[in-house]
Amino acid sequence: MTNTGQAATRYTGLVDKYRDRLPIRADAQAVSLGEGDTPLVRLENIPAALGIDIDVYVKYEGLNPTSSFKDRGMTVAVTQAVAEGSRAVICASTGNTSASAAAYAARAGIIAFVLIPEGKIALGKLAQAMMHGALVIQIKGNFDRGMGLVKALADEAPVTLVNSVNPYRLQGQKTAAFEIIEALGKPPDYHCLPVGNAGNITAHWIGYSEHAGLNTAACAFCAGDCGFLPRSADGRRPRMLGYQASGAAPFLRGAMVDKPETVATAIRIGHPQSWDFAWAASRESGGWFAELSDEQILAAQKMLAEQEGIFCEPASAASVAGLIQDLRAGKLVAGSSVVCTLTGHGLKDPDTAIRQSSEPITVEAEMDAVKRIILDNMA
Ligand code: F0G
Repeated sequence: MTNTGQAATRYTGLVDKYRDRLPIRADAQAVSLGEGDTPLVRLENIPAALGIDIDVYVKYEGLNPTSSFKDRGMTVAVTQAVAEGSRAVICASTGNTSASAAAYAARAGIIAFVLIPEGKIALGKLAQAMMHGALVIQIKGNFDRGMGLVKALADEAPVTLVNSVNPYRLQGQKTAAFEIIEALGKPPDYHCLPVGNAGNITAHWIGYSEHAGLNTAACAFCAGDCGFLPRSADGRRPRMLGYQASGAAPFLRGAMVDKPETVATAIRIGHPQSWDFAWAASRESGGWFAELSDEQILAAQKMLAEQEGIFCEPASAASVAGLIQDLRAGKLVAGSSVVCTLTGHGLKDPDTAIRQSSEPITVEAEMDAVKRIILDNMA
């Protein structure tokens, strides 16, 4: 017996998988690194410790090729950009978008220009952008300022803007909702997300809405028929719960925040670009926004790492910190199913991880010294 004749099953990324649900050019060749198809892990120990009757899953987006959810949007945006003849991409970023843009541009053989706030992006993300050969421009200003600059630049120079104001980004990111529905057999009752620029909560709402078959209304981006934010709702969709860091919480203030600050640098954003869309997703879904202190966010990050073996970056942990806060306040219906998106891998930000962990113990390289520590810690 030989294996010849077996059908090939190699996963080749989400553009190939979901092409019929993506509004890209028919002749576009996928620029892919095998993104998507991330695990939906059921939490065991945290729900047991909290004593809750809720099924909690985490969508571990840190297992994408550049270790964040941005790859979903980037594969589609860069695929379309290359098909249109673009030779360079540009973005402003708190780190993950720049890492992803740099990798996909490298894959496509085009140039990536990335604007990052000086000193305010996590080390791993900076290393990625540099390694992939992006032209890294540090600005003496925050993400929101960088966003203003790249939007203006994209109008004046032959570069494609690949922040989430590029509609292909959200089209790619909506596929996370499709995968969740495929994995559970139905949409969850609630979906918890960290919110920064607000593109991802918007993208998930597009995905869930398309699945519910509500693709009749005009798209706010393309004025076409791609099903963006449909107005009439009858299909089942989750309530969208958006969580922000208190120091960077425009959706809680009801207004833009000029000097955002949080340890979760990925969501250190005060002027979200998808402001109206995210409000629409929240209202239409019957969801809400809530805010968390940096301490709550870091505690949830540590809890996931120590109690479930899942290492996500601080911003990602806002989804679980928010869920815990709302569960304690009795805001979720018992017996429900919940998905929390863990947007980026913990290795992105080693500094913050090490700062909140206890120091390693240093001893002589002797049997007795090591044995004493083992016995002391098992007593
Ligand atoms: N989590 C992580 C790890 C992120 O990197 C981001 C955004 C978010 C959550 C928020 O998602 O902006 O769609 O609401 N990072 C962007 C960046 C802004 O430049 O990497 P959002």
